[in-house]
Amino acid sequence: MFVLAYLLGSIPSGLWVGQLFFHKDIRKLGSGNIGTTNTFRVLGKKAGIVVLFMDMLKGTLAACLPYFFQSFSHPLFNPLIVGVAAVIGHSFSIFNHFHGGKAVATSAGMVLGYNPLFFALSWLVFGSLVYFTRMVSVASTLGMIILVILSLFFHDSVLTIVAAILMVFIIYLHRDNLKRIKNGTESKVPFGFHYHK
Ligand code: G3P
Repeated sequence: MFVLAYLLGSIPSGLWVGQLFFHKDIRKLGSGNIGTTNTFRVLGKKAGIVVLFMDMLKGTLAACLPYFFQSFSHPLFNPLIVGVAAVIGHSFSIFNHFHGGKAVATSAGMVLGYNPLFFALSWLVFGSLVYFTRMVSVASTLGMIILVILSLFFHDSVLTIVAAILMVFIIYLHRDNLKRIKNGTESKVPFGFHYHK
């Protein structure tokens, strides 16, 4: 189950969509990230939506594996624990020299498979932060901090622990973005500013 979740998460949607349909390598364009944000930035809205959907689906399917392989009523492994393997695959993809995206969309998809209410809340927090700051990276990092706090209201220790681990992981993966935010050079939606690797 964990291997399957890792392999699912490893599918580099942004990279493959770019190579297959646009003949572009998004690792060399924009922020160089292969995730949803850079796909929107480099390949446009349609590709961005497809990659967002695919990256989320990887997390959702992985989180659902314990239900399929074990028991619907009493899964042996918590879906979030299996889902984390997909998030790791997304960020350290076996199909992309163990590099990958910044874990946000796949983490969101994983939460959808576990707790749809927390998923909806995550989108509300993320969407509001993107709206007010215009920076997806701020929404991703600050959003994770807010979500860890909000998870406390769910009285679910696994949810809070996994959210806290992902918060640290996601902030670490955004270290270049944080430098750009500090310098005032971070790109803002609708991505009028393009930087190249
Ligand atoms: O989820 C990734 C996003 O927060 C930042 O992406 O491409 O601007 O580094 P990017």
